[in-house]
Amino acid sequence: MVALACLIISVATAEQIKTTNTTSSYHLPLPDGVSGAESLAFYGKDGIYTGVSDGRVLKWRGRAAGWSTFAYNSNFRKLPLCSDSSVSSQEKESKCGRSLGVEFYRKTGELYIADAYFGLMKVGPNGGEAEVLAKEADGVPFHFVNGLAVDQATGDVYFTDSSLNFTRRFNLGITITNDTSGRLLKYEAQTKHVTVLEADLPYPNGVALSRDSKHLVVALTWPCQVFRYWLKGPMAGKYELFAELPGYPDNVRPDNQGGFWVALNRERLQQAPVKKHLVGVRLNSDGKEVEELTAVWDVTLSEVATFNGKLWLGSVDLDYIGVLAI
Ligand SMILES: *[C@@H]1O[C@H](CO)[C@@H](O)[C@H](O)[C@H]1NC(C)=O
Ligand SMILES: *[C@@H]1O[C@H](CO)[C@@H](O)[C@H](O)[C@H]1NC(C)=O
Ligand SMILES: *[C@@H]1O[C@H](CO)[C@@H](O)[C@H](O)[C@H]1NC(C)=O
Repeated sequence: MVALACLIISVATAEQIKTTNTTSSYHLPLPDGVSGAESLAFYGKDGIYTGVSDGRVLKWRGRAAGWSTFAYNSNFRKLPLCSDSSVSSQEKESKCGRSLGVEFYRKTGELYIADAYFGLMKVGPNGGEAEVLAKEADGVPFHFVNGLAVDQATGDVYFTDSSLNFTRRFNLGITITNDTSGRLLKYEAQTKHVTVLEADLPYPNGVALSRDSKHLVVALTWPCQVFRYWLKGPMAGKYELFAELPGYPDNVRPDNQGGFWVALNRERLQQAPVKKHLVGVRLNSDGKEVEELTAVWDVTLSEVATFNGKLWLGSVDLDYIGVLAI
């Protein structure tokens, strides 16, 4: 649901880029009645966590025990609507919430949640009702909180609010109107204060920290770009282009090799017939594309994450998580 207007720029020559076809991935099904594992978090030896379409964060407890509720917001408990699977998630998401970014702070076992409607949230290591940490910055309320990254050294959280004008449900409006009201934000764990790092951005979505914590990368969906925001060193505060992408990005995660996996909803729209359906790219530490992920046509990805020697494929549209041996 992010398609439309990117300019067509040739990104790199095909022979330098490894292509991995995700069609053979194992499908870990979500429970009946929910879908859309947009973002994935991992904790401990084999704990897998994801936010789904009814606003909850679920935990996978292995084949025998299956999925269980890990975290939920205050409305999930109060409003029967939220657990009524006969009501579409589009209709109820503004009340029931939608967890779009999830990541643990490993020192404390707390899970941070970027909820499109509730704002930045946190839940303790045993789960339960998540606490809202922030709903606005500089007096301007969040409208569409989307991606996050936790600095494992400090506990600070970097996150995005994709637009001041459109909520997640109406996110197509961001692309159609070329909306540039998104923000890149920082939640400081010590002071609990939120600062605006960059404002007036076109559809900021996923965010990740570099391996050396010196900079962030943030994916901009409709311009099909990744920008770099310097946190440390002589460039601190500078915001610059990092990579042009061959498709519409969602979340960004470290690839454990010093670079990043960027999940793509789809390849750029173009005049020429499209020969392969792109759902992800791996960028090296300089922003150069080094690998592509392809899929069959009805697959879209919102996150590509590495854990236990496998690639984990989240999708806001599908009712399963893909798992690919690497
Ligand atoms: C989005 O919000 C900004 C700031 O409130 C405003 O200036 C702009 O006109 C709005 N854009 C649209 C497309 O509504
Ligand atoms: C948005 O940008 C595209 C490409 O740059 C342009 O063709 C289109 O007219 C713009 N739309 C609006 C509503 O400004
Ligand atoms: C990926 O594999 C599937 C199944 O084998 C095949 O149909 C599809 O064409 C392949 N895609 C690419 C881009 O090679």
